[in-house]
Amino acid sequence: MTDFCNKSGFRLLFLFLALYFFICPEKAYCGKYLDSAHGNTTYGVNRTSIAAFGYSRGNCAHCHEQHGMIGGTEPAPVGGPSAYELLADNFSGITLKPYSQSDNVCFYCHIGTGTLQTTSFSNFNYSITFGGNPDSLPNNIFEAFNSLSYHNLYDVYRFITGLSGTKTFTSFPSGSNPCSGCHNVHIAKKSCGKPPLSNSYDATKSAISKPSDHNNLWGDDSSEKMNPNFTTNYQSPYWYNSVTTYEPANNTTSDGTNLPDYNTFCTDCHNSTNSIYSTTLGRNLRTINWNVEKHGKGNADVAISMKNPYGTALGKVLSCTDCHEPHGSSNLMLIRTEVNGTNLGSITTMDPFVPPSCSTPYSNYDTLKSNSISNLCNKCHKDDYDFNTSCQNDHWYIVHHDSLAGDPFYTSGGCGNCHNSGQWGECTSTRTAINCNCCHYHGSTYTYGGTTWRTF
Ligand code: HEC
Ligand code: HEC
Ligand code: HEC
Ligand code: HEC
Ligand code: HEC
Ligand code: HEC
Ligand code: HEC
Ligand code: HEC
Repeated sequence: MTDFCNKSGFRLLFLFLALYFFICPEKAYCGKYLDSAHGNTTYGVNRTSIAAFGYSRGNCAHCHEQHGMIGGTEPAPVGGPSAYELLADNFSGITLKPYSQSDNVCFYCHIGTGTLQTTSFSNFNYSITFGGNPDSLPNNIFEAFNSLSYHNLYDVYRFITGLSGTKTFTSFPSGSNPCSGCHNVHIAKKSCGKPPLSNSYDATKSAISKPSDHNNLWGDDSSEKMNPNFTTNYQSPYWYNSVTTYEPANNTTSDGTNLPDYNTFCTDCHNSTNSIYSTTLGRNLRTINWNVEKHGKGNADVAISMKNPYGTALGKVLSCTDCHEPHGSSNLMLIRTEVNGTNLGSITTMDPFVPPSCSTPYSNYDTLKSNSISNLCNKCHKDDYDFNTSCQNDHWYIVHHDSLAGDPFYTSGGCGNCHNSGQWGECTSTRTAINCNCCHYHGSTYTYGGTTWRTF
């Protein structure tokens, strides 16, 4: 019995499903399973197709079945036996979206139409659940992964199992579920937020596990919060449409003591050394050194021109999730749809990857700018209009050129070196803008006239 939870003794599991409360002794998750969202007897797993067999809500059998069978027949979904005695195959190996339900075993329940879970339930994206965005979609995980940008499950699978890039984890044998890179299905809890339940955020619970520590939850202990684990200089963004309450709980806490340390979580993969390939983007990702980037632990230079609640003090640190969704987004690069209290215009222009194609003088960018990352920057940084309402909206003359900003990066002549001819003017003029991505991206610096600025 002692190796009941080992893979060798795994088949025995099904003789005792009804008794798992008493006999699941060895493996760490067995005890924790009872506290998990899936093992919960009120809202845990409950597969419609096995209702007839009398398993209680939360029972392992809602996800595992021996030889694909229960009571001599195979309950839905059919398809024969699967590894880990799962109800369906862990992952199909599909390389790009669109995903179908059968591509990932989790999608048999974490989907809208066609869920096998009774009663059906919703999971919204981060902007909605932890930011207060009133959007009602996406309302399930399947839909989130079928967004314009998404964490490519094939690449995550290949990275965590060591088939691609630099493998640094030991918990993911070949055949693992890609979602397991960030979640442990047997211990994940529901910290929630709203919707669905008003004021339901519970900072002592967490749904995520760091890939380097798969058998523990990350972010549930006070030592795993943004403050103090990663920094004491965190400023929470505003909750949607509020100037008195903050993410992720819609209350007055604004110092990161209630936010999981997502920086340590995300940089378990996205750090300065790991090489990560993206099939979606067709290239390796940029590496990220959050200890030196200005939105990370690196300090801004001289002065910043911020909207509330950021203030003028230098040295602030942001969370990856202040700007990014974890699963997918209708914006490129998993950029959130709501940031610091308001919605973004959509971001569908993201180029170029290699700055030389931005070489001076820059090409006409005006038609693209309205769908560019400037929409994101403007949620926290002041554009010309925010300095002076007689200036243009989504124009960025002042922070780059005007002493009003405290540290404009360029105030001399030679306008044509950067702008196309005929474009000079000030904040009130309509001028051709320059692609923000030429100079602003993770790890970016910009050198002109012998001076180098760190620009992200
Ligand atoms: C048999 C149905 C079923 C399957 C299969 C399933 N889940 Fe769940 N999952 C649920 C239910 C039900 C909940 C509780 C949801 C609720 O009440 O919000 C849940 C909750 C969760 C949570 C907790 C977070 C939260 O806030 O709800 C995570 C994380 C999660 N599931 C991940 C996964 C992953 C990853 C897989 C696949 C490896 C998976 N689930 C497969 C039914 C399922
Ligand atoms: C288990 C490893 C892992 C973790 C943890 C992880 N990522 Fe990723 N991420 C990947 C892989 C692999 C890719 C490449 C596939 C892709 O482009 O989707 C990727 C790609 C991305 C992309 C580019 C997506 C695109 O194609 O447009 C963004 C943005 C990103 N991750 C943000 C994050 C954020 C934010 C977090 C933390 C909430 C995070 N990642 C956590 C593995 C990880
Ligand atoms: C929500 C669905 C779900 C429930 C409920 C569930 N499991 Fe699992 N289980 C999985 C998935 C998915 C995997 C494969 C994990 C992976 O690929 O990373 C797995 C893998 C396993 C493994 C193989 C190795 C490992 O540790 O990952 C064992 C043993 C196991 N489950 C036992 C159990 C027991 C015992 C219960 C009930 C106490 C249970 N499971 C409940 C989904 C579930
Ligand atoms: C790159 C890491 C990553 C991957 C891969 C990933 N998730 Fe998540 N997931 C997160 C983070 C981060 C959160 C949100 C923050 C939190 O709840 O702490 C989250 C939240 C969730 C939630 C709770 C949503 C809510 O209501 O708040 C569920 C359910 C979930 N994920 C399921 C899945 C499933 C199923 C997959 C695979 C198809 C998956 N995740 C893949 C990182 C990931
Ligand atoms: C201030 C907002 C912001 C914050 C905070 C932020 N990002 Fe990003 N991220 C962006 C923008 C904008 C892009 C698109 C430009 C680029 O590719 O760098 C991006 C792109 C990415 C990419 C794709 C990089 C590529 O190869 O093109 C990854 C991966 C990523 N972010 C991960 C993270 C992680 C991990 C964190 C936290 C440690 C984080 N981001 C914090 C705004 C942000
Ligand atoms: C969620 C809020 C937020 C968003 C969104 C955001 N920033 Fe920032 N940014 C900050 C904060 C706060 C600082 C100050 C960091 C510090 O004090 O070290 C900062 C600092 C900077 C700096 C350093 C300025 C200096 O004087 O050294 C640059 C450059 C910058 N941001 C560019 C951008 C760009 C470009 C975008 C859009 C792609 C963007 N930021 C989006 C909050 C944000
Ligand atoms: C070193 C490169 C560089 C030089 C030289 C330069 N600019 Fe700029 N300028 C920028 C950047 C970067 C921006 C911000 C991005 C944008 O808005 O296009 C900008 C923005 C502007 C804008 C606002 C455009 C808009 O639509 O947001 C005007 C107007 C402008 N510059 C005028 C000038 C004038 C006049 C000169 C010469 C005195 C000049 N610039 C020299 C880089 C430069
Ligand atoms: C030619 C390069 C270049 C381009 C293109 C560019 N910027 Fe900048 N930007 C800079 C430099 C350099 C700084 C100054 C960094 C510093 O203060 O150390 C800066 C600073 C910023 C800041 C920080 C202001 C603060 O609070 O201190 C923001 C926000 C910003 N840029 C937004 C944008 C936006 C939006 C666009 C596109 C419309 C854009 N930039 C295009 C080079 C550029």
